[in-house]
Amino acid sequence: MQQSFSAIERAKRAVGEKVAEWVASGMRLGLGTGSTAAWAIRAIGRRVREEGLQIVGVPTSYAAEQLARAEGIPLVTLADVEALDLAFDGADEVSPELHLIKGRGAAHTREKVVATQAQRFIVLVDASKLVDRLGTRCPVPVEVLPMAATPVMRQLRRMGAEPVLRMGKAKDGPVVTDQGFWVIDAHFPEGIEDPQALAVTLSTMPGVLEHGLFLGLATDVLVGQTDGQIRHLRRTS
Ligand code: A5P
Repeated sequence: MQQSFSAIERAKRAVGEKVAEWVASGMRLGLGTGSTAAWAIRAIGRRVREEGLQIVGVPTSYAAEQLARAEGIPLVTLADVEALDLAFDGADEVSPELHLIKGRGAAHTREKVVATQAQRFIVLVDASKLVDRLGTRCPVPVEVLPMAATPVMRQLRRMGAEPVLRMGKAKDGPVVTDQGFWVIDAHFPEGIEDPQALAVTLSTMPGVLEHGLFLGLATDVLVGQTDGQIRHLRRTS
């Protein structure tokens, strides 16, 4: 049955507000990108203004930076902090092993850099993002140097993927990332058989800046259900 938009939005809001409750004064946070992470940024901003919560945040995109500024969250860079206590972010797919596909918003490169600096990386999703096999619901975004886009797409085709250069909406031509790169969405019609092997292959392609496979990074996943409940999945190894 098709779920209503508002039920999904309620689920996103619930997990965003839940992670905001886990934030304590003194924490250095990674601030994720996307509609789910935005709920967390808003709720943390409210706590900063109303409770005087003392935190600093590293944004994962210009979008997260703008929202955090508007919410009054003090921002720093990774050059200013030794490590992050907690980073939160949304995801496009979550596998049973808590591996992820991210990058629908073309922010996965900065998101991955920030997530790897965090002691806890908490992923916020509604239940529609849970999959048995990565790649069955979403393509894998691959951020590329523009002059490498065609050779990378050729190689992806040889690997059995169906690559599509992501085009702008309300902009003519390709999506241009916060880094000035392009994004190829690599569709895998049967899903991804071996995500680890694919991650290694993508990372070694000349001209690829970063891909949207996040393997072994999530420590926790909060899953918002449409009945208002939240399921907490924890990485076991
Ligand atoms: C940004 O590039 C993405 O990785 C998002 O974090 C991801 O697409 C989840 O976004 P939503 O919370 O909007 O679904």
